[in-house]
Amino acid sequence: MTRPPRDLYRRGADRPAAPRAAAPAPSTAPAREVTSLTNPVVKDLRALHLKKEREASGLFLAEGLKLVTDALDEGWPIRTLVHATRVKDQPLVVRAVAAAKARGALVLEVSDEVLVKICRRDNPQMVVAAFVQKIARLADLAAPSGVWVALEGVKDPGNLGTIIRTVDSVGAAGVILIGDTTDPFALEAVRATMGSLFHVPIAAATLEEFSAWTAAHRLPVWGTHLKGAVDYRSVAWPETCVVLMGNEQSGLPEAYVAVCDGLVKIPMAGKADSLNLAVATAVMLYEVRRRALGV
Ligand SMILES: C[S@@+](CC[C@H](N)C(=O)[O-])C[C@H]1O[C@@H](n2cnc3c(N)ncnc32)[C@H](O)[C@@H]1O
Repeated sequence: MTRPPRDLYRRGADRPAAPRAAAPAPSTAPAREVTSLTNPVVKDLRALHLKKEREASGLFLAEGLKLVTDALDEGWPIRTLVHATRVKDQPLVVRAVAAAKARGALVLEVSDEVLVKICRRDNPQMVVAAFVQKIARLADLAAPSGVWVALEGVKDPGNLGTIIRTVDSVGAAGVILIGDTTDPFALEAVRATMGSLFHVPIAAATLEEFSAWTAAHRLPVWGTHLKGAVDYRSVAWPETCVVLMGNEQSGLPEAYVAVCDGLVKIPMAGKADSLNLAVATAVMLYEVRRRALGV
């Protein structure tokens, strides 16, 4: 597996200054305690549930100590970390707070009521943080290798998060989002990745950019299609290639089929029309990466 270095990401760096939630604090500053539901930082974090606020700020929310720790360990830029006052002495929380402060993030201790408000649910996580979004440009992926999954117009954030997690699990190279897709930084998508969002490069492109990039690097593109003429198990999968998946509703449009070197089908026996997108991607990836995984 080859993944591009982290400095290929640009989107976060290009963003304008983050909103109020982004105010840096000195690394040695004690955590501020917040109980007011109308605190502006609380409002800004809560607003990150909305796509337009994520787009305007370039930030997104990661909920839970595991996700926050994964992101910090992978070096994702952090702006704000909040945790429940009652977990402040837990060793992993102390570690996350120290890492966040060392990077100039604002750290707040909050009441459970404030966490309910930020997370918009009754049983919130005890640790939540706002990180800077990172999306690669295809043009920056200069010498792509490994297996890339390209998703045309994926709409369901749960599917996208599950696919990112699967790409991570099989050691594939990354995910390319083509066309009008759901936001990988939507909370439901982030949750479904179970932390893999922080380990897997994600790029976004138009069909034209994708087509030019695969041609320039001579990357074979295999589409998956219900009308595919080839059984996916009969292909001698190369170490480097792109597996192109269609969207949940209508599958791959003709313009996408046209950029494929071949179309494969996963055989089905029952009365279902098709497999779920995330399931089909997992079935494909375990075959394409079979030799590398030793299975
Ligand atoms: C839910 S399916 C789309 C079904 C859509 N009604 C169609 O006609 O393609 C979403 C995507 O999963 C992949 N997929 C699902 N089942 C598949 C199968 N049996 N063989 C190949 N690809 C499949 C394809 O990429 C498809 O575009």
